[in-house]
Amino acid sequence: MKVVVVGSGGTIGAAVAAELDSRHEVVRVGRTRGDLRVDISKPDSIRNLYEKIGSFDALVCTAGEVHFAPLDQFTPEQFEIGLQSKLMGQVNLVTYGLEYIRDGGSFTLTSGLTNDDPVPQGSSAALVNGALEGFVRGAAIEMKRGLRINLVSPTVIEESLPIYAPYFRGTKAVPASEAALGYVKSIEGAQTGRIYRIGWSRESSN
Ligand SMILES: NC(=O)c1ccc[n+]([C@@H]2O[C@H](COP(=O)([O-])OP(=O)(O)OC[C@H]3O[C@@H](n4cnc5c(N)ncnc54)[C@H](OP(=O)(O)O)[C@@H]3O)[C@@H](O)[C@H]2O)c1
Repeated sequence: MKVVVVGSGGTIGAAVAAELDSRHEVVRVGRTRGDLRVDISKPDSIRNLYEKIGSFDALVCTAGEVHFAPLDQFTPEQFEIGLQSKLMGQVNLVTYGLEYIRDGGSFTLTSGLTNDDPVPQGSSAALVNGALEGFVRGAAIEMKRGLRINLVSPTVIEESLPIYAPYFRGTKAVPASEAALGYVKSIEGAQTGRIYRIGWSRESSN
């Protein structure tokens, strides 16, 4: 399969690309690194990317930014970062990608646990991750031509603890290679409309 990995230079994306490399043609995409470049927060940039890629069988997105800050200090502009990048960036990759993806292909997006297991300063991440779950379930029932869409929601990643540990005290971490399995199941399996929670379950939420 021709598999596009947007965010392939990042912690999770690199592990996903490495896992897929031996079995598939992997097209690595990033904002500053990779075979091709895109800024997913800009719709025109996504259109340009697809014109360069042409047809493909699967798209993974492990890219997207969200701002972390105390709720009483959050500005509208800071909320916009997550909405334009991690949320609408991934949504637009799907809607524009429909024109280019082959029959039976799949989209796999990325969220995170903060909408179910909230963390300090994570209100924007919770907002975006919850919206992504809704989008994937809603989009799955409208997919035609045997197309599928799933979401991977990893717990905090071990390799990211030097940055994220202060936000995720008491949360179990998993290596990026374990999170990568969720993407592989989505791409090489047959399920659709699923949320693959990697390294955590919903039991911790109310
Ligand atoms: N790491 C964790 O613990 C964890 C846990 C759960 C969920 N997540 C989620 O998983 C995703 C990936 O996390 P990560 O830790 O792997 O991130 P990362 O190491 O910071 O890598 C992010 C990748 O996305 C690319 N990117 C960022 N903004 C972009 C944009 N606007 N357009 C195109 N590419 C862009 C970056 O490209 P450049 O390097 O070229 O800029 C980079 O390759 C994020 O949505 C994050 O919220 C992460």
